[in-house]
Amino acid sequence: MLESLEKIKNESINDIQSAQSTADCDQLKSFFLGKKSPLAAVLKDIPSLPVEQRSVVGKRANEIKQELSAYIQEKKQTLHTQQLEHSLSHDSTDTSLPPFKIRNGAFHPITSITRDICDIFSRLGYSVKQGPNVESDFYNFEALNIPEHHPARAMHDTFYLKNKQVLRTHTSPVQIREMLSKKPPVKIIAPGKVYRCDADVSHSPVFHQIEGLCVDKGLTFSDLKGTLEFFLHELLGPEKNIRFRSSYFPFTEPSVEIDVEFKSKNKSSWMEIMGAGMVQRKVFKHVNYNADDFTGFAFGLGIERIAMIKYQIDDIRLFYENDSRFIQQF
Ligand code: DAH
Repeated sequence: MLESLEKIKNESINDIQSAQSTADCDQLKSFFLGKKSPLAAVLKDIPSLPVEQRSVVGKRANEIKQELSAYIQEKKQTLHTQQLEHSLSHDSTDTSLPPFKIRNGAFHPITSITRDICDIFSRLGYSVKQGPNVESDFYNFEALNIPEHHPARAMHDTFYLKNKQVLRTHTSPVQIREMLSKKPPVKIIAPGKVYRCDADVSHSPVFHQIEGLCVDKGLTFSDLKGTLEFFLHELLGPEKNIRFRSSYFPFTEPSVEIDVEFKSKNKSSWMEIMGAGMVQRKVFKHVNYNADDFTGFAFGLGIERIAMIKYQIDDIRLFYENDSRFIQQF
C-alpha cells in the first residue's frame, strides 16, 4: 500500500511539473486532491487494512496530500509570475489611439438662470436671502394680506400640512421674514422652490421663483418700473419689448403684471412673465414698519417660465427628468 502511495505521488509530481498555465494547476488540484482522486481512494480503503498498517498508511497518505498541495501552489505562483513578466515585456501601450471622450457636466438651465438673475440684482445692490420651504400660514398668507377665506387663497392650490403649516406656495413669505428681522432700508432677492398642487405641460407641483423686495424712504412706482425694465433688458436682451399691465395682488397696491413680447414666425404675442407692485400698507403693519415713513416695491417671477421663453421649451416636465442630453444643450 505504501508503495502505491509513492507511485501516486511521483506520477502526480510529473504531471504538475508539465502544467503550462495557472488554469492547468487548478484542474490538476481537483484531479489529484479532490474527492475522486487516487489518493482519496487509498484513504477510503484504510479501514480494510490490517490494524497495524492503518496508521502508517494513513499518516503517509496525509503527508503526500500536503506535499502535493504545496507543490501545486508553488507551481501556480511560478506560472503566474512568468505570465505577468511575459505580458509586461510584450504588450505595449499605443499612445497614438484617440483618448476616451470625457463627458463634461453642465449647469441645469434653472440653476444658470437663477445665477444670471442674482448677478443682475447684486449689481443693483440687492443681497440674496432664503427662507424655509415649510412655512406657517402666517408668513405664507396672513402677513401678506391674504386672510382666511380670501379668494386669493383659492388660486394657490396649497399643499396643507399639520398645525397650520403649508408647503410655501410662493417666495413672497421671505419678504415678511426679512422685514421682521431688520429695519429699512431693505433690498433683497430670494430664489427658491415653491409648491402647488397642479400638474400638466405648463405646471409642475414643484417649481422655482425669485422674489424681490426694496423698501426705503421715498420709493415710487418709477423706481419699480426703472428697476424691472433694466433687469428684463439685461436678462433677455435690450431689444425685447416689455409692457406693464394693471393687475391685482393682495400684498401690493397698485399691482402690475409684466409681459414680454414673444415673436414667432409671422405673429407676435405677449407672455406674462412676472408680478409686481408697491408694498401694501397692511403688509407693513404686520411687520411693524411705519407706512407713512417708508414705501417699497416687490416683485416675483417664475424661473421655469423665463427658461421656457429663453430656450423655447414647451413642456415644463423636461426640467425635472434628469436627462443629461437635455441639460447638455444649454
Ligand atoms: N407671489 C406671487 C405669485 O406667486 C408673485 C408676486 C406678485 C410676487 C407680485 C410679488 C409681487 O412680490 O409684488 O403669484
